[in-house]
Amino acid sequence: MDLGRLVVAVVLSVAAGILHRAVIVGAENHHVFLDWEVSYAVSQPLGVAKRVIAINGRLPGPLLNLTTNDVAHINVVNTLDEPFLLTWNGLQLRRNSWNDGVAGTNCAIPPGENWTYVFQAKDEVGTFFYRPSLGLHAAAGGHGPIRVNNRPVIDVPFPHPDGGEFDVLIQDWYNMDATLMQQCLDGGRALPPPDGVLINGLGPYEAELTFEAGRTYWLRVSNVGTRTSLSFRVQGHKLLLVEAEGAYTQQKHYASLDVHPGQSLSVLVAADQPPKAYHMVVSSLFAGPELYGVGTVRYAGSTDKLPPGNPPLDDRSSHNSYNRSMEQARSIRMNMTSGAARPNPQGSFHYGHINVTRTLLLRNDESEIGGRRRCTVNGVAFANTGTPLKLADYFRVAGVYTVVSGWPETRNSTLSTMAIDASYRDFVQIVFENRLPSLQTWHLDGYSFFVAGMGWGKWSQDARSTYNLVDAMYRSTIQVYPKSWTAVLVYLDNEGMWNLRSQDLERRYLGQELYLRVSQGNSEVPDPRDEMPMPSNALLCGKAKNLKSWYKLAPSQHDHI
Ligand SMILES: *[C@@H]1O[C@H](CO)[C@@H](O)[C@H](O)[C@H]1NC(C)=O
Ligand SMILES: *[C@@H]1O[C@H](CO)[C@@H](O)[C@H](O)[C@H]1NC(C)=O
Ligand SMILES: *[C@@H]1O[C@H](CO)[C@@H](O)[C@H](O)[C@H]1NC(C)=O
Ligand SMILES: *[C@@H]1O[C@H](CO)[C@@H](O)[C@H](O)[C@H]1NC(C)=O
Ligand SMILES: *[C@@H]1O[C@H](CO)[C@@H](O)[C@H](O)[C@H]1NC(C)=O
Ligand SMILES: *[C@@H]1O[C@H](CO)[C@@H](O)[C@H](O)[C@H]1NC(C)=O
Repeated sequence: MDLGRLVVAVVLSVAAGILHRAVIVGAENHHVFLDWEVSYAVSQPLGVAKRVIAINGRLPGPLLNLTTNDVAHINVVNTLDEPFLLTWNGLQLRRNSWNDGVAGTNCAIPPGENWTYVFQAKDEVGTFFYRPSLGLHAAAGGHGPIRVNNRPVIDVPFPHPDGGEFDVLIQDWYNMDATLMQQCLDGGRALPPPDGVLINGLGPYEAELTFEAGRTYWLRVSNVGTRTSLSFRVQGHKLLLVEAEGAYTQQKHYASLDVHPGQSLSVLVAADQPPKAYHMVVSSLFAGPELYGVGTVRYAGSTDKLPPGNPPLDDRSSHNSYNRSMEQARSIRMNMTSGAARPNPQGSFHYGHINVTRTLLLRNDESEIGGRRRCTVNGVAFANTGTPLKLADYFRVAGVYTVVSGWPETRNSTLSTMAIDASYRDFVQIVFENRLPSLQTWHLDGYSFFVAGMGWGKWSQDARSTYNLVDAMYRSTIQVYPKSWTAVLVYLDNEGMWNLRSQDLERRYLGQELYLRVSQGNSEVPDPRDEMPMPSNALLCGKAKNLKSWYKLAPSQHDHI
């Protein structure tokens, strides 16, 4: 190592050490303490009563309203009669996969018990949501909106809307009980199509937003549904897209925007039309028959009633076209000159100039394994075992999962528990290839990635010439159109065990997920500057259940074992 590098390394590690103490001790940061009780409730948005999962008695659950660098302490009390976990869709949880709340990182909160998540919204700002992560819980609700607001010292590239902010959670909905949905999949059958589309948990014409004429409103829209891509629009109004999953976009007007499962975006809507009532329409894309969720945008003072039934559609014929959708996706670009959560331009990281360390080609498929239909990634359906991979790693319990350096490209379909070994600070290209006739979505926890390219057919090395290497969107959930590919670039600067999953609940449940184990391979126990120590309240389960002696050591002692 030359002297220059050494100096840089020392400065970086001192800085990281300060950051670490700031996070753990946290005197400088604002702390937010919340108690969330998770319980069953009954809801009938489409006229059919269904047992749902509520948080503090509500579905959607409470807004998690944070400001950049806030530390959230969320004590989740599980009053269900089954184990439960929440995950934070789109939050990066820097150095802290311990709080990601998925089966590969956390033991489930047992029925009747509680567990306190602690994480920081470090250097991020934007629109996200939380949802349950186990089994098919997400089909029963348990979700709610997350806002991470900018600190006042950091500029936002648009004036704060004078009208106010609304969280708009949109989703497909099954009247069927989530346990029956699970039995259906366990019995080898596919789920039927959903029964309808909801806006903020409400059925037709029940969701209403009130606008004051002349003002501008900030709508934070997330698709929290199980599998359906949705189109969002407000009749007679333009949507100014400004943000998606934590990155500011080049501001452009759209008549309607596609929101695929698991995605979030922000639009500004000017109340510049004659003061009456307008349809807010959420319609299903691609898969027929078309389903609608309809709500109302009402100008204050207007009393007109919207005619019942389906709303007028402006551009129905082009709506179900994948090409139109891909064109819209390509038109969404990052604003490279706007500030981010930190006081530097978003574009200061020139991702297009960085050499790709490795390429992971991941192909989703379906096959029969052991007589059951499974969804696979390169032929492997992921099997959750009773021991989180993260704990197996920490306690060095053998036989829980296999670490693979690459991902075998052709192999007979198997059910297996594997994680891809990835080196800290590698710059990786992940290519999602979809040979199926249906749209797929992929989400990576702990990161945002640059959506460099999309194309029809098979991906090849030559595809790089078509990439956007300048101002691609930086987000955490991406769609892959039928018989096409999507290539993303990601800088692996966040150590931990990170879930890469389908945002289609059925496909994920049937195995379309895996983990990326991002570590500095040479250090046996991660340096706490790079990864936080195991939380002192960590739940233990499976093969790690009785390993308490180690766990009771003070975190600082872990390094010396
Ligand atoms: C969210 O937090 C911000 C910053 O503290 C505050 O200004 C805003 O009123 C809060 N919003 C809601 C809906 O609680
Ligand atoms: C459960 O909640 C109590 C407070 O009601 C808290 O003191 C305790 O730390 C929580 N347990 C865990 C494991 O987080
Ligand atoms: C990008 O952000 C800058 C700085 O905030 C802003 O002035 C500009 O209008 C934005 N550009 C677009 C195309 O949205
Ligand atoms: C979509 O675009 C591809 C490539 O440009 C083209 O081959 C295909 O025919 C188009 N499909 C439709 C339905 O327009
Ligand atoms: C990227 O690779 C090229 C060709 O191997 C090399 O010339 C260049 O210096 C590398 N760039 C960086 C930033 O490492
Ligand atoms: C894959 O399956 C085929 C047919 O069942 C079998 O002949 C072959 O040996 C298997 N290959 C491997 C690598 O297991």
